[in-house]
Amino acid sequence: MSHAEDHEGSRRDFLFYATAGAGAVAAGAAIWPLANQMNPSADVQALSSIRVDVSGVDIGTQLTVKWLGKPVFIRRRTEDEIDYARGVPLSDLVDPHAENENIAADSPATDENRALSEDGQWLVMMGVCTHLGCVPLGEAGDFHGWFCPCHGSHYDSAGRIRKGPAPRNLEVPVAKFLDDSTIQLG
Ligand code: FES
Repeated sequence: MSHAEDHEGSRRDFLFYATAGAGAVAAGAAIWPLANQMNPSADVQALSSIRVDVSGVDIGTQLTVKWLGKPVFIRRRTEDEIDYARGVPLSDLVDPHAENENIAADSPATDENRALSEDGQWLVMMGVCTHLGCVPLGEAGDFHGWFCPCHGSHYDSAGRIRKGPAPRNLEVPVAKFLDDSTIQLG
């Protein structure tokens, strides 16, 4: 392959990822292709901050975007999911920390400390199991949240580890709303 062809290939990849980052919808549970997980292109790694259009995300569905070479779950939770997460006693949690990069590291793992919006509807998390890095499945497991089939870790509807070998809650990355329908990651 000539240098010129190689360059064009990179450019095509970049456009594909940029489009995906801008809001390709993958509702429900998504299994991230292993090849994508293992080989983030240099172009993708360079996108340290992306904007995601969430206007098409309905209540009870999840958008998965790729950011910094990893999947990010953007879930718009149902009332039941929010109520469940907010009713869990902190003493039941395996990892007591919010694991939210937007707030102090020692913040407790309340649902309020993990949700992106005050009403609790929006939850943004890295889709990377804290055990060995598999991508958990949505709407699965024993706690109304996510389940990692690799070794059986159950996360609740706030993405907090509740059962299985994973040691920490799913990480909440730096994120904020720019307007009603746009979330910026990074
Ligand atoms: S990688 Fe998820 S349980 Fe092991």
